[in-house]
Amino acid sequence: MNILLLGSGGREHAIAWKIAQSPKVDKLFIAPGNAGTALVGTNVDIKADDFAAIKDFALANQVNMVVVGPEDPLVKGVYDYFKKDEALSSIPVIGPSGEGAQLEGSKDFAKAFMMRHNIPTARYKSISAENLEEGYAFLESLSAPYVLKADGLAAGKGVLIIDNLEEAKKELGDMLGGMFGDASKTVVIEEFLDGIECSVFVLTDGNDYKVLPVAKDYKRIGEGNTGLNTGGMGAVSPVPFADEVFMAKVDERIIRPTVEGLKAEHIDYKGFIFLGLINVKNEPMVIEYNCRMGDPETEVVMLRIQSDLVDLLEGVAEGNLAGRTLVQDPRAAVTVMLVSGGYPEAYEKNKVITGLDGVSSNNIVFHAGTKLVDGQILTNGGRVIAVSSYGATKEEALAQSFAGAKQIDFDKKYFRRDIGFDL
Ligand code: AMP
Ligand code: GLY
Repeated sequence: MNILLLGSGGREHAIAWKIAQSPKVDKLFIAPGNAGTALVGTNVDIKADDFAAIKDFALANQVNMVVVGPEDPLVKGVYDYFKKDEALSSIPVIGPSGEGAQLEGSKDFAKAFMMRHNIPTARYKSISAENLEEGYAFLESLSAPYVLKADGLAAGKGVLIIDNLEEAKKELGDMLGGMFGDASKTVVIEEFLDGIECSVFVLTDGNDYKVLPVAKDYKRIGEGNTGLNTGGMGAVSPVPFADEVFMAKVDERIIRPTVEGLKAEHIDYKGFIFLGLINVKNEPMVIEYNCRMGDPETEVVMLRIQSDLVDLLEGVAEGNLAGRTLVQDPRAAVTVMLVSGGYPEAYEKNKVITGLDGVSSNNIVFHAGTKLVDGQILTNGGRVIAVSSYGATKEEALAQSFAGAKQIDFDKKYFRRDIGFDL
C-alpha cells in the first residue's frame, strides 16, 4: 500500500521511520517532511493543511492511507474533508474528525467532555468577557498558584501559571482582551494540581483501543525543569511510576470512559489520543487531551513498538483493531533534543549540521527542524535533531544519546544533559 504522512517534525520522522519498516508499504510520502524524512520516504512539497493539494496528490499517486502527524490539519477538518469527498472517501485518514479534534482544539470542550463522563481532572470554570466577574470569584475561591488556559490552539503557549491572585486577575483580563488572539476569547481557569506528569498514547478505531508505551517529556529549556516552556527537550519511556496498578486506574477511569464517551456522543474518532496525565498521590488525573501523538514522545514511543505499526493503523482504518497485536519492546528508549541557541525565544536558522555520519549505530537520529539545500543539511527550526537510543536501562540509553548529541554539531547547539533526572 501507499501511505501519505502529513507533517514535518521529529514526530513525523519517527512515524515515517517506523512505517517504512513495514512489509505492507510500497511507497511512503511525507508532506512536507524534512531532511530526515527524505531518508525513509519521499518528501512532497505540500503543506500539511493544504487540503486541495493533498487531494490532488493522493489521487494522482494511488495513496491508500493518510496518517496525520500534527493537530492543525485535524482541527481544520482533514478527516471530514476526505470523508465528504466522493473521490476521497474510500481513503482512510488516521486521525479524528474535526469534532473529535476539539478535545485538543478547545480546552472548554475537553473539560465539559470530561465532566460529562466523570473523568478525573482539575476543577475549572470557563470564562469569557460576559462572565468576567465569575472568573474573579472563582480565582478567589482557589489557592495559589493559578492556572489560566486559552481555550483555543495557541502553539503550546496558551497556559499561564501564576503565583499571585492580583496578577492572575490582571492576566485573565489580558487574555480575554486578546493576548492569544481569538484562542483566548474564552479562558479556562483551573485548580492547580501538584504531581508528576506523563504522556499516555492510545490508538483507537472508535470501538477498541490499544495503549502504546508510556513516555515522559521534558518541556522546559533549562536543566532541573527551569526556564521557559519549549516544544519538548527530550523524552524517556517507560515511566517507572506508570506501573501496572497506576495504568489499571488510567485504563478504568480515563481511557475507557474517553473512548466510550466519544462513541456515545457519536464523535468520529479513529486515530491517536494523547492523554497528558498527572500523578497526584498515585491517582491519575487528566491535564489535557491532544488529538495526535506527542513530540518528542513519539521519538521514544516508536522505538518501543515492536509490532508492525502499519498493521495497527490498518486495524484502525478497518475497525478491527481488537484483532491486531501490539507488542512492546522491553528495553528503555530515550531521546535528547538538540536545539538552536536562543530557542524558545529568537534563534538563527540555516546553520550547517555536521557529524551526522559519525554517530554510532546505537543512535537513531530523527530530524525535527532540518532542510536539505544543495546537498547540505541545515538547521530549519528551534528544535533541530532528536537523538534517540535504546538501553537495558534509561541510564544506558541516555549515555548513548548524549554521546550522539556531542558528535552532531551546529553553531549555537544546545541540549539538556539531565533528561530523565526526576524518574
Ligand atoms: P497544557 O497545555 O494544558 O498541557 O498545559 C501546559 C502545562 O501546564 C502542562 O504540561 C502542565 O505542566 C501545566 N499545567 C496545566 N494545567 C495544570 C494544572 N491544572 N495544574 C498544574 N499544572 C498544570
Ligand atoms: N510533548 C508535548 C506535545 O507534543 O504537546
